[in-house]
Amino acid sequence: MAPAGLLEHAVASTGIVGSSQMSFQGLARLGARKHLNPISLQKWDQQLGGLKISLHVAAAATAPGRKNLTLGALAATAPAPELDASTQDNLKRAVARKAVELVKSGMIVGLGTGSTASMAIEELGKLISQNKVKDVVGVATSYQSRVLARQFGVKTVDLNDVNHIDVAFDGADEVDASMNLIKGGGAAHTMEKVVDSIAKQCVILVDQTKVVPELGLTFPVPVEVLQFALSPVLRALVGLGGVPEIRNALRKDGPVITDLGNMVVDVRFPEGIKNPAELENKINMIPGVIENGLFINIAHKVLVATKDGDETAIVELADFVASLKSAKEAST
Ligand code: 5RP
Repeated sequence: MAPAGLLEHAVASTGIVGSSQMSFQGLARLGARKHLNPISLQKWDQQLGGLKISLHVAAAATAPGRKNLTLGALAATAPAPELDASTQDNLKRAVARKAVELVKSGMIVGLGTGSTASMAIEELGKLISQNKVKDVVGVATSYQSRVLARQFGVKTVDLNDVNHIDVAFDGADEVDASMNLIKGGGAAHTMEKVVDSIAKQCVILVDQTKVVPELGLTFPVPVEVLQFALSPVLRALVGLGGVPEIRNALRKDGPVITDLGNMVVDVRFPEGIKNPAELENKINMIPGVIENGLFINIAHKVLVATKDGDETAIVELADFVASLKSAKEAST
C-alpha cells in the first residue's frame, strides 16, 4: 500500500469517514447543542414513565404561568428548542456568579475551561477587584483559562507550585443524575481532569440542558490521543463499540491540536453509555490515549441553572432531579 499521510491512513485503516465532516465542536458552536436532544428526551420520558414535568425547580411549582412540558411531546417535535442562546448565556452567568460565592480569602482555585467556566473566572475577578476576597490564586486548566484569569485580575500559579486546590469550578457537556460527566467540548479535558480530581471541592456549573438521563446519547466522548498512536487508537475505540471521529479545527485546516500538542477524537456511543466508569477505564487503557472526557466520581457538587418563564433558579443536581420525580408524583 502506498504510504498515506497520517490522518488519511488513520481514517482509511479504520474505515472511519469523518475528517472532512464538521466536527461536533463545529456543530455545537453553530448552536445545535442548545436544543434538547430528542433521543435523550425520550430516555428521560421512559425513565420517568411519561412524566409531565416542568423544567423548573419544585420550589416554583406553583408559579403562575409555569409551563408543564411533556418530554415525549417535546421529543416528537424535534428539534425542540429549549433555550435560546441569550437565555442560556444568562443561565451560565447566574450559575457562575452563585458558584464563586464559595471562594474564601486565601484559597487556591481551579479554573475550568469553556464558556461557563470563563464566566466563573470573570465573576471571581470581580470579587477580587472589590476586595471581597483576598490572596486568592488560580490554577488554569488551559491556555484560554490562563489568559482570561490574567484579563480579569486573577493571579495564576502552576499546578506544580501548589500542594492542593481548595475549590475548582468547571463546566460540563453532559451530567447524569449521579454527577458523572462528559467533558472536553473545548478539548481541555486532560488538564481539567487533573485539576478537578485533586480539588477538595469540584463544583460543576451547568444549565438545565446539560442534565441527561444517560451519558453519551447526545454528546460524544472526547479522547485526547498521542498523534503517533492515532491509527491503533481509532481501531481500539471501534473495538469498544464506539464511532470515532477526528475533531477538525474550525478556522484552520486539519485537526484540532490540544494545548498539550495532541489530537482529539470524538467517540459516539449511539446506544448511550450504560457503565461510564468501566468505559472510562477501558478507553484510558488503550496505549496512546492520553485521557478521555468521562469524569466519574470527580464532581462533589453540580449546580444547575434553570429557567421557566421569567424565573431563574440555581439548584443542586439532586434537587433538580428530585423536582422531576415529585412533578411525576403530582401528575399521577
Ligand atoms: C472544555 C469543557 C467545558 O467545560 C465543556 O465543554 C462545557 O463548556 P461550556 O460551558 O462552554 O458549555 O469540558 O474542555
